[in-house]
Amino acid sequence: MNILVTGGCGFIGSNLVRLLRRERPEWKVVNLDALTYAGNLENLIDLEADRGHVFVRGDICDREFVGKVMREHAIDAVMHLAAESHVDRSILGPEVFVQTNVLGTQRLLEASRQQGVKRFLMVSTDEVYGSLGPTGAFTETSPLQPSSPYSASKTSSDLLALAWHHTFGLDVVVTRCSNNYGRYQFPEKLIPLMVVNALHDKPLPVYGDGANVRDWLHVEDHCRALLLALEKGRAGEVYNIGGGAERKNIEIVKAILALVGKPESLIRYVKDRPGHDRRYAIDPSKIKAELGWTPAHTFEQGLAETVRWYVDNQDWWKRVMSGAYRDYFDTQYRARLQAEG
Ligand code: NAD
Ligand code: TYD
Repeated sequence: MNILVTGGCGFIGSNLVRLLRRERPEWKVVNLDALTYAGNLENLIDLEADRGHVFVRGDICDREFVGKVMREHAIDAVMHLAAESHVDRSILGPEVFVQTNVLGTQRLLEASRQQGVKRFLMVSTDEVYGSLGPTGAFTETSPLQPSSPYSASKTSSDLLALAWHHTFGLDVVVTRCSNNYGRYQFPEKLIPLMVVNALHDKPLPVYGDGANVRDWLHVEDHCRALLLALEKGRAGEVYNIGGGAERKNIEIVKAILALVGKPESLIRYVKDRPGHDRRYAIDPSKIKAELGWTPAHTFEQGLAETVRWYVDNQDWWKRVMSGAYRDYFDTQYRARLQAEG
């Protein structure tokens, strides 16, 4: 089986590629990634010599390129993760979110249809449902009420995928997951940003009153759910994925400070994010009942391990945060791949 993973050099994508190579070694994993600021080949340095993982650099918006990759590698199934993924960036510059998340997804869907791809897994987000009050949880039938340019673009791509199923008969499964944490997350998202700032004794910016709630899931639990959805999900269905670990942002920030031994005086309450969703919570009953998925990590243990990883891998985050290094690394990596033929 030949799988196309888009965005395989990002946070979740790199964890997914590693899981696929470990759990399904007979599959060829073609990793199509544009290597934006968020995509780093160094996230997959351990697979450098693995011939079951093929990296191709390119843009999912490039219709001809995407079609060529699918044909050349005789792609059977697509796991689509490539996206602009940060809400704050989508507020500062929404256009690239529409370009990549909406247009890019449409191009991939169309190429998949033409190639005769047997399954298209659309990796969506719980942010399509908008914000919750103090009680309740999102189910797959909750109304779609995205608030940010990011979540609106993801909702569009999620609905496009379902439309390609209903209209053109493409075999599509959609997953909507809550906030992920774990190794290789770019230090712009809450958890790695706070660890990096704390290690530098820099202020930790908490938006608003810090009482916004996210439902956290370890990235490896998400990736196992994606593999299950790919193999066992029903065509045309949506599966919510969440770990049942609702936490206020301020609780997480304080836990991180305690883990790295830094004082709470580093916390700075700052101006709130415009349109900031108050609370997310996922009801994962469907994926549990239908596909037999359960998360393996508890949040406290997973957070402690994750913080330890960022403390132990300072070279990683210092390098990925430096664009010059990324370009250099890419050149070196591609030269090595070409040399290997
Ligand atoms: P990320 O920002 O870490 O990685 C995105 C990857 O996509 C990068 O490697 C980037 O280079 C690549 N990419 C961006 N634009 C591209 C383009 N035009 N063509 C090809 N590649 C491109 O994101 P992530 O956190 O790993 O999220 C992956 C997916 O999972 C996204 O679709 C996101 O919406 C979804 N998701 C994320 C979370 C989360 O908590 N991080 C939760 C639910 C769903
Ligand atoms: P983030 O990691 O950006 O994910 P998302 O916005 O997709 O949920 O943010 C998680 C929560 O943390 C969100 O409520 C915003 C908040 N936050 C801060 O308070 N300070 C920060 O510096 C960041 C990046 C996020």
